[in-house]
This record gives sequence, C-alpha cells and structure tokens, in this order.
Amino acid sequence: MNILILGGGGREHSLAWAVLQNPKCDKLIVAPGNAGIAQIAHCASLDIENPGAVTEFAAENAIDFVIVGPEAPLAVGVADALNDAGILTFGPSQAAAQLEASKAFTKEICDAANAPTAAYARFAEAEPAKAYIRAEGAPIVVKADGLAAGKGVIVAMAEAEALAAIDDMFGGAFGGAGAEVVIEEFMEGEEASFFVLSDGKTALPIGTAQDHKRAFDGDQGPNTGGMGAYSPAPVLDEAVAARAMAEIIQPTIDEMARRGTPYRGVLYAGLMIKDGAPRLVEYNVRFGDPECQVLMMRLGAQALDLMLACAEDRLSEMQVNWAEDHAMTVVMAAEGYPGPYEKDSVIKGLDGLPEGSSHMVFHAGTARAEGQFRAAGGRVLNVTARGSDLAEARDRAYRMLDQIDWPDGFARSDIGWRALD
Ligand code: AMP
Ligand code: GLY
Repeated sequence: MNILILGGGGREHSLAWAVLQNPKCDKLIVAPGNAGIAQIAHCASLDIENPGAVTEFAAENAIDFVIVGPEAPLAVGVADALNDAGILTFGPSQAAAQLEASKAFTKEICDAANAPTAAYARFAEAEPAKAYIRAEGAPIVVKADGLAAGKGVIVAMAEAEALAAIDDMFGGAFGGAGAEVVIEEFMEGEEASFFVLSDGKTALPIGTAQDHKRAFDGDQGPNTGGMGAYSPAPVLDEAVAARAMAEIIQPTIDEMARRGTPYRGVLYAGLMIKDGAPRLVEYNVRFGDPECQVLMMRLGAQALDLMLACAEDRLSEMQVNWAEDHAMTVVMAAEGYPGPYEKDSVIKGLDGLPEGSSHMVFHAGTARAEGQFRAAGGRVLNVTARGSDLAEARDRAYRMLDQIDWPDGFARSDIGWRALD
C-alpha cells in the first residue's frame, strides 16, 4: 500500500522507519519530512494544516493510508477531511482531538467518566480566577484552555506566580488559547506517559515511557518539548497500567463513543502516579515526541499493523508482541534551545554510526546543504538505542552521541536517571 505520513520531526522519522520495515508498505511519502527522513523516504512539501490540500495531495498520489503525526492538523480536521474522501487515516477526528485541544473539555470528560484527575475550576475572567487562587492557595496550577505549544501551563509554587499567570493569560500572552483558563489542584507523584490505541471501542495499550522536560542535567533549567525518553517506564508497572485502563482510559473511550464522537487513534495519557494510584494530568491525541522514538524502536514493523487495525476498527483482533527490551533516546538540541538559537551549523560524524534494529539516529530538525547535514531547528537529533536492559540502551545511545561532531549542539548526560538509580 501507499502510505503518507504528515509531519517532519523525530517522531515522524521514527514512524517512517518502523513503517518501512513492514512489507505491506510499497511506497512512503512524508510531508514535509526532514533531511534524515529524506534518506529513507520521499519528502514532499505540503501545507499539512490545510485539510483540502492534504486530501487533494493524498488523492493525487494514490495514497491508501495516512498517518498524522502532530496535533495541529488533527485539531483543524485533517482526519475528518481524509475520512470523508474515503482515505483510511490514523488519527482522531476534530471533535475527538478536543481531548488535547481543550483542557476544559478534557476535564468535562473526566467528570462524566468519573476518571481520577486534579480538582479544578474554569474561568473566563481574571477577577474570579484570582479570587479562587487566593482561596485555594499555592502550590496551584494555571492552564490556558487551548493549544499553546506546550507553554500554556504554569505550575505555581507561590500564590503571586499564579496571580501573575492569570494576568498574562487574560492579557493575551497565549492568544486565543488563553481566553479561558483552567485552575487545578497541584498533584504530587511521579509522572509517566501511557500510550493506548483506540478504534472507538477497543483500547489496546502499546507501551509506556518517561520524558525529561527540563533542558539541563538534574532536571534543571527551562521546560522544553522533551530532552530524552525511555521505555518502558518502571513506575507504570502492570498493576498501575491495569488501574489506568480501568479507571481512566476505557471510561474516556466509552464516554467519547457515548457522545457520538468516538476516539480513533493513539491516546497519550500523561499520568501522575502516587502510591500505585494513577491520576490523569493531560491527554494528547498523538504520539509524544521523543516518546514515539523509543516506542517505534521497540515495536518495529508491527507498528503499521497496529495503526491499520486502529483505523479499520479491528483492534480487538490485535495483540502487541513485546520483546523484553528497553529503549532510550537522547535529544541533541541547538545551543540556546528552548530560547533563541542559531540555525545552519554543520553536523558531522553521522555517516559512520551504526544503524539497524538497535541503533538509530532519528532526525528532528535537520536540513541538507552542499552535501552536509545542518541544524534546522531547536531539537535536532534523537540518538536512539535498544538494549536488553535500560543501562545497555543508555550506553549504546551515549556511545553514538559521543561520535557526533556538532559543537553547536548540546544534550543532557543523565537521561534515564530516575529509572537507573
Ligand atoms: P500539561 O501540558 O497539562 O501536561 O502540563 C505540563 C506539565 O505541568 C505536566 O507534564 C506536569 O509536569 C505539570 N502539571 C500539569 N498539571 C499538573 C497538576 N495538576 N499537578 C502537578 N503538576 C502538573
Ligand atoms: N514529549 C512531550 C510531548 O510530546 O508532548
């Protein structure tokens, strides 16, 4: 079959890499892709947030199956347009993508599904929001309702910080995303990510991971999109996963179906786990980046079969074949990220690296000019390895990273510390 993947980050490189291992894939196009993806698939330029343009492109290229990587196309209805045009698609409808696009919507679903999450209140005006913060006290969490590229959440340890966040949000710091705010109880515990496929009815867990949001070693510095990940996450063991399925995930899937907006795609639940009890922090309607890279490294070719079954409403026939393995990805980012950074610096040393089922450098933000790889984004490379245990995966990943010659880049040296301690 002919497959189109939408997106151009490390997540999409790992999806392309896994899809190509499956003999069902005859032709693969990735739009827009990046320089690393261009080494294994055809890259096409396309406005992936324009449902009409995507549908037309898919039809012109005789695409049989579309895999949507990021949330933005889903939130504007790209999956709806493709489905209406009769093109099989992996990714939820615009209505179901509200689980990521609106925090207030997710809270409403949790209430209806009786799923454990932080207590909350929502506000459309600053003064009542501030009065609520003063009454509840700190620590407290202030969230812009809409999509704010991961920056719309302020975990305030002091009341003044929470009040300032309210001024920022209603002052337009997050544009339309901040027109409404959700204020939440601060939850303590350890965070982990749970990935579940749903075809609208059946929910099938496909893996767990932990991310590292802070830029520097020791979880210091500003929040980023993620500086590294590993899978599985020890804190999300079988007992916690079973509780998360029974108390949070399946009730959410059932509630979405009951409302006539069934959830089809990957549901990525951010969980806070304390004393073996999971509570929902947030939903995302896509794979995490860089969590996807470690999941794809572990799933390999079966990832395509699972995504197809998900889109064709036959997940109940499927099971995941897990190897007893571990994977880690270490992100290399441009010096300065997540703040301003330079583009175009030359990256050397990639050609001599091992590649295969247990070693892979997924490209996140690279371009190729004059025969050389160059940095073209904040997060640039995802050095990924698999091992029989996490220490082996880590040693392999860092050995590769040491061979990459890119003086303008940096990486954390402690990915996996929580699980390896
Ligand atoms: P979100 O975008 O909702 O995932 O929030 C970003 C990060 O803020 C999460 O990954 C958590 O680390 C933190 N966070 C969000 N909500 C809460 C909460 N209610 N209690 C504690 N930490 C939170
Ligand atoms: N790594 C976090 C995310 O993809 O949202």
